[in-house]
Amino acid sequence: MANIDFKKRDSFTSKYGVIAAAAGSAIGLGNIWRFPYVVGENGGGAFLFIYLAFIFAIGIPVMLSEFTIGRSAQLNPYGAFKKLAPGKPWYLVGLMGVGAAFMILAFYTAVAGWTFEYIYQSIINGFEGKNSNELGVMFDSFRESSFRPILWFAIFMFLTSWIVISGIKNGIEKYAKILMPLLLVLIIVLCVRSITLPGASAGLKFLFKPDFSKITTNTVLQALGQAFFSLSIGMGTLITYGSYISKKNNLGNTAVSVSLADTFIAILAGVAIFPAVFAFGIAPSAGEGLVYKTLPAIFQQMPGGYIFSLMFFILLGVAALTSTISVLEVIVAYFVEELGMVRKKATIVASLSVSVLGILSVMSWGALKNVTLFGENIFEILNYTSANILLPLGGLLIVAFIGWYYGGAKTKAELSNNGTLKAKYFPVFIFIIKFIAPIAIAFVFLNSVGIIKF
Ligand code: PHE
Repeated sequence: MANIDFKKRDSFTSKYGVIAAAAGSAIGLGNIWRFPYVVGENGGGAFLFIYLAFIFAIGIPVMLSEFTIGRSAQLNPYGAFKKLAPGKPWYLVGLMGVGAAFMILAFYTAVAGWTFEYIYQSIINGFEGKNSNELGVMFDSFRESSFRPILWFAIFMFLTSWIVISGIKNGIEKYAKILMPLLLVLIIVLCVRSITLPGASAGLKFLFKPDFSKITTNTVLQALGQAFFSLSIGMGTLITYGSYISKKNNLGNTAVSVSLADTFIAILAGVAIFPAVFAFGIAPSAGEGLVYKTLPAIFQQMPGGYIFSLMFFILLGVAALTSTISVLEVIVAYFVEELGMVRKKATIVASLSVSVLGILSVMSWGALKNVTLFGENIFEILNYTSANILLPLGGLLIVAFIGWYYGGAKTKAELSNNGTLKAKYFPVFIFIIKFIAPIAIAFVFLNSVGIIKF
């Protein structure tokens, strides 16, 4: 049994299944939890504008490059680079991706665990009668406590591993197809409630009206980092998923559909959150607690809030789960294909080792709150470094690989399914990959590190 697992690669079974699974990876806490608070900390509309420019000009081409690498090689990120560039150091890009997967999974699962606390609080009606101040205190004291956040972390990690052990087509694909549309419906309901709150327009203005005086070089880097984080690109998640995509699939269409879905959900999350933030007088720059503090306040005010609250946090957990699976899969595929472990052992080893770092990040507001670097706690360091440094750097190297090493001919063959599809976008794509994307990423990077000044 174990040997069969090792030899035969699992794969997605349908076009919609691929999109649902890849969108399942892309859509997650990055859209609903991270996007609103990063927008809030970076001044609103102007940030959104830059973010969108990065998604379309750079994000989609990077995603397509990852799919190309994965589907050409049919291997995990490390193995893929080794196969496509034998004897060259490109495999280091794959290794960096595996490292980034460890870091992301460590802090991301912590936040995912918080959804369980909020599901529990929804069930026991724990938000009842609390004003937004008290809800804020409730979140902060939960996060500082020593036992519960670790328990929820462990349960979430267990669930992630359990699904990864059972493979791709029977787990992820099936659930993603049902649960992603349901998430969409719920977010729309929340948007409607939020924009009909008194004082909501200030929130919409904040989100959509660009004030470019708020933009600093760090803001631009944060927008790039958020775009990469949200699309799940720059670390090989979509190389891994690409390796499970059938040779008949249209990679261009898939990348565009996934990116549009991801962007749409992020904007809806902003529309659900900012009007409420302003209506309830919460600071938009409240940081990682923003969503956990505002949403319960909205639920309190809406008819049927009890049931919506419960459904929302369940779905937030599910959205997080379809993302944590994709991150763990990167590590597991590497362990299985490169270190020769069977899938089950690979999953257990991977999740236990991630948990060590994960528990440290969970404790960032409690026992370890004084462990800081540049004033940031362990959680924030993992969050900032992975999204704003490792993913853009990985993305830069991935586009450089396709544009300058792998080359136009082989890439075109992959994207056009050996000439059976049109891929009319190809000249634009290859131009972006060769020139625009690498220059833009390098520029944003060097600028924010202070090596060049704009
Ligand atoms: N894109 C996911 C989200 O928005 C997070 C993620 C990042 C997943 C990187 C995989 C790789 O929640």
